[in-house]
Amino acid sequence: MKPIKVGLLGIGTVGSGTFNVLKRNQLEITRRAGRSIEIAMVADLNVERARELTNGECEVVNDANLVVTNPDIDIVIELIGGYGIAKDLVMKAIANGKHVVTANKALLATHGNEIFKAAEQKGVMVAFEAAVAGGIPIIKALREGLTANRIQWIAGIINGTTNFILSEMRDKGLDFATVLKQAQELGYAEADPTFDIEGVDAAHKATIMASIAYGIPMQFDKAHVEGITKLQASDIRYAEELGYRIKLLGISKRTEAGIELRVHPTLIPEKRLIANVEGAMNAVLVHGDAVGATLYYGKGAGSEPTASAVIADLVDITRLATADPEHRVPYLAFQSNSLSDLPVLPMAEIVTSYYLRMHVADKPGVLADVTRILADLTISIDAMLQKEPAEGETQTDIIILTHQTKEKNIVAAIEKIEKLDSVFGAVTKLRLEELS
Ligand code: NDP
Ligand code: HSE
Repeated sequence: MKPIKVGLLGIGTVGSGTFNVLKRNQLEITRRAGRSIEIAMVADLNVERARELTNGECEVVNDANLVVTNPDIDIVIELIGGYGIAKDLVMKAIANGKHVVTANKALLATHGNEIFKAAEQKGVMVAFEAAVAGGIPIIKALREGLTANRIQWIAGIINGTTNFILSEMRDKGLDFATVLKQAQELGYAEADPTFDIEGVDAAHKATIMASIAYGIPMQFDKAHVEGITKLQASDIRYAEELGYRIKLLGISKRTEAGIELRVHPTLIPEKRLIANVEGAMNAVLVHGDAVGATLYYGKGAGSEPTASAVIADLVDITRLATADPEHRVPYLAFQSNSLSDLPVLPMAEIVTSYYLRMHVADKPGVLADVTRILADLTISIDAMLQKEPAEGETQTDIIILTHQTKEKNIVAAIEKIEKLDSVFGAVTKLRLEELS
């Protein structure tokens, strides 16, 4: 059978990994795919570097439009990133009847619905394994491996950069800016690293997983997004004293009322496997009604780990390219006419446990005032830590862990607690998940 011809848009970190792994493992991949997969054309703004990387083995152009309109190209791999030019090129590739592989979670989480609709009309595939958790085959697991299950919840460490920052800060005592720079040098961070540290990248990925897990359209605009920039070293320390680790988690949960979709720093019991995922590694915990909990672990970023997922998509498409479009795996796991309108819940309605830290006067009655406010709002306390004031100080920290309650109750409690004369400054609120 004649080789399947691929056009690669962007030969940066992931693009070069894809080129190299495909070349290195060509024989093995051909044996798996049933025909050879050939990168026939590469587009990159830096043509010189692209020529060096591809060593004269394919055509290199500066204008990506030449790739997406080339009638000889069967599959376009979009590895440029962002949702400007990347979106135009993906839409143009689809309009020209090309199958598309992309690692671009930002693009899919924000414009996925439009892209999948266009692809369906054209009868082409859009594959995106690399868009979530790099080299971990989590999309395939959710879409195919767990297809028998009603997925109940997903919780994942799905941003390598922030996990790397939290681990290095804790283990080596390095400061935030130094570790972020290292993450950028290692190729983990997004072009705009605020996407990583402010939780946006993780929210893109959580949005994609929620869509596939619960059969709902992509709704990134409804996700709650909180990053790690406001996290204090003292909270990491106090959490450890109470037997917890803090991780930036992407969480989605099916409830009677709708879907919770949120990204925020989260306390997790230190004995959970996922609490011990360090560095740029990713891990996703999925709970299905039939299978129970399953855990997927591996490299969530980097050149070749991500290339591994890109090439898995290339092989899938190669195998299915001649299949009737009706009989392919649906883009979002559920048939497109069977998506559900289950709402994504506003943050006020989500239910979880909380860590509260407050700075208070070290005098009798303060704790009673605080606990009365919590009790009035039916918030029950799970554990408490009161620090001894430092030598000569009259103020100290109190840390309270609560049982599960609605976010709106905690917000109301915090508002009242902050008004107490003996409480100084803002109360720090972190969410806590037992993940049991
Ligand atoms: P890079 O910035 O390393 O690579 C992007 C490449 O695209 C660069 O070579 C850039 O050229 C080129 N490019 C930019 N604009 C154009 C254009 N108009 N036409 C052709 N080429 C263009 O990014 P990554 O490889 O890190 O990321 C690519 C995608 O993969 C992103 O969507 C990212 O979110 C995703 N991803 C990345 C992971 C990682 O670990 N890095 C992991 C998982 C997903 P130039 O440098 O000259 O501007
Ligand atoms: N910037 C992303 C991360 C790359 O750090 O996880 C992988 O998607």
